[in-house]
Amino acid sequence: MQDVKIHDKVFTVMIEAKQINERIKTLADSINVEYKDKKPLFLGVLNGAFLFAADLFKEINIECEISFVKVSSYSGTESSGALKNLIGISHSIKDRHVIVLEDIVDTGDTARYIIEELKRHETASIKFATLLFKPKALKHNFKPDYSCFEIDPAFVVGFGLDYDGLGRNLNDIYVLK
Ligand code: IMP
Ligand code: MG
Repeated sequence: MQDVKIHDKVFTVMIEAKQINERIKTLADSINVEYKDKKPLFLGVLNGAFLFAADLFKEINIECEISFVKVSSYSGTESSGALKNLIGISHSIKDRHVIVLEDIVDTGDTARYIIEELKRHETASIKFATLLFKPKALKHNFKPDYSCFEIDPAFVVGFGLDYDGLGRNLNDIYVLK
């Protein structure tokens, strides 16, 4: 498979579409068993997780719902750094078995924030599923409940993930060369 150039950088294939599809199918198989009769509510995190969420959802064969949230980051006016805001929890998630779907866990900052926010809604349970996980980049005491691939802490694009807006449409996952 050929390298791709996005903006100023060159990327090379790391995980092929076939492998991605297989891992997603395996994850769906476990969820189908574990969540039977629990009517899980999937919460996809936009924008990056939209393809992962769609492909996983198509393999779920138990009663379930899906909705999407977005984490908007904005710089604080104080020196306290970036503040986050979780938007899109429109209908009640109280008493629901929630499965968060994220594209990638890097430092774990976003994941931890999302879980803290969801915990305020008295859900029945919360689990976190991510397509990619960079355990060596993790800065928090957090581990996703499900991850399709553990990767080294290099920058990746494709299958929903972008480099400065581009690359989300690539079917394979590419790593910075
Ligand atoms: P974290 O909060 O550091 O775990 O980072 C989470 C967010 O950073 C992800 O949801 C992505 O949007 C972005 N991100 C982290 N690593 C990568 C990468 O390798 N490629 C593209 N986006 C990334
Ligand atoms: Mg993301």
